[in-house]
Amino acid sequence: MTSYLVKGGNKLSGRVNISGSKNAALGVLAAAMAVDGPSVIENIPQVIDISLLLDIFRDLGAEVEMVGEDAVRIDPRTVTSSEALLESVRKLRGSYYLLGAFLGRFGKVRMYLPGGCDLGSRPIDLHIKGFESLGATFTMEENGVVSLEAKELKGASIFLDQVSVGATINIMLAAVHAKGMTVIDNAAREPHIVDVANFLNSAGANIRGAGTDVIRIEGSPHLAADMTYAIIPDQIETGTYMMMAPLTGGDITVENVIPTHLEPLSAKLREMGVTVEEGGDTIRCYMEPGAKLKATSFKTLPYPGFPTDLQPQAVVLLCGAEGTGRMIESIYENRFQYIDNLRRMGANIICSGKLAVVQGGNPLMGAPVEARDLRAGAAMVMAGLIAKGETKVQNVYPIQRGYENFVRKMRSLGADISVEGPEAVRPAW
Ligand code: EPZ
Repeated sequence: MTSYLVKGGNKLSGRVNISGSKNAALGVLAAAMAVDGPSVIENIPQVIDISLLLDIFRDLGAEVEMVGEDAVRIDPRTVTSSEALLESVRKLRGSYYLLGAFLGRFGKVRMYLPGGCDLGSRPIDLHIKGFESLGATFTMEENGVVSLEAKELKGASIFLDQVSVGATINIMLAAVHAKGMTVIDNAAREPHIVDVANFLNSAGANIRGAGTDVIRIEGSPHLAADMTYAIIPDQIETGTYMMMAPLTGGDITVENVIPTHLEPLSAKLREMGVTVEEGGDTIRCYMEPGAKLKATSFKTLPYPGFPTDLQPQAVVLLCGAEGTGRMIESIYENRFQYIDNLRRMGANIICSGKLAVVQGGNPLMGAPVEARDLRAGAAMVMAGLIAKGETKVQNVYPIQRGYENFVRKMRSLGADISVEGPEAVRPAW
C-alpha cells in the first residue's frame, strides 16, 4: 500500500500546470467509442481511471494507441460485440458510459453494473429511465449484469427528476443515434458535458444547448469521426491547488485553466478574504499582507453551484480559517466520512446529516489518516500541509486515480511530501 508523508508548515507558492479533466476525458473517450471512425483525443490526464478505461476499450477489441505525451488514437470500428462483461468494468464507475455508447451504436448492450468511489448508493436509475424513454428494454440479469436492447431508438422528451452528470452524458451518447429529436430537460450543466457534446458535434452530431438545463439532440444514423479533439482543463484539480495558497499563506498561479469554470470557487474564496486574480488561462490566489482568512458557508450544488468534488478540500480550508464555517453537502448522502480523519488531527467539526459545522483556527496535528476517496484523499494531504509534524496519508490509490503527477506538482509548489511504498502500478496506456 502506498502512502504520502506530508510535513506541515511550508507556504505553497509558484505556478502549476493543470492537466486535462479526468471526468471530461471519461465521457469523451466513451463518445469516441460511439462514433463510426477513428479519432485522436488530446490533453488526456495520465491517471489510473483513464488507463483502466483504455484497457477496457482494448479488451473490447478497439484499436487504442498512444500518439503523443497526452494523446491517444481510438478506432472503435474493430469492436464487433456489444458485450462488456469484464471484471475491470466493475471497478470503474466511468465505464457506465459504454451503456449509452453501445446502445446507440449496436442497439443493444450487456455489461456489469459499475463500481466507483464509496460515496453512497450512486444508482443509475436515471440513466435507465432515459434509455427506456428512447425505446430500450432494460433487464437486470443475475451476477450484476445489466442489459439493454432496442429494435429502434426513437427521439423522446426526457425530464431528469434529479440533476445527474452521468445520466445527462449517457443519454446523449445513445440519443445521437436515435431517430428524430431528443430533448433532455433538467440536464446537468457541468463543463464536461459541453466537452462531450462538442466532441460529438465535431463528428457530425447535432446537439444544441449543452451547458444549459435543456439539451436538444437531433439523431443522425452515421457519425463520421477522423478528427482530433482536446479535452478541457480539470476544474477540480484547478480548485484543489487554488485553495492551497490561502490555506498555507502562499501564492499560487494555476495555468492552462478556464477561469469561468472556477467562478463558483473564486467567488467563495473572495468572500473568505482571498485575492483571486484571473488571467486569460490563469488564476492567481494569495492573501494580501495583513489579510485574514475568514470562515464562510458553502452548499454543494450542480454546476454552476459550488462543486461537490471540492467539498472535502473546502472543509480543510475552513479548518484553517478564522471563525465558524458551514458546509452543506446536497449532492451525496454520505460525503463526510473523511471528517473522522480530520478530527484525529485535532479538527473541531460537528456533522449532522447534510451539514458540517467547522470551528476554524484549531491547530492541526500530524497523524496517520486514510484517503477514503479521490477528493477526500487530496483534502487529507492539504490538512497535512498545515498540521504540526508529519501526516501519513495511507492508501493513496484513490488520489492516483484522478490527480496527474500529484507529488511532483506539490513538490514544485514547495510542499514537503514524500512517497512511502511502491509507486502506483499504473496500467500501460
Ligand atoms: C459525476 O458522477 C462525477 N464522476 C463525480 O466525480 C461528481 O461528484 C458527480 O458527477 C457530481 O458532480 C464522473 O464524472 C466520472 P451524478 P455521477 O449522476 O455522474 C444521484 C470525482 O471525484 N443519482 O451527477 O455519478 C447520485 O447518487 C467523482 O471525480 C441518482 O440517484 O454523478 C448523486 O447523489 C466523484 N440516480 C446525484 O444523483 C442516477 O441514475 C448526482 O450524481 C444518477 C445519479
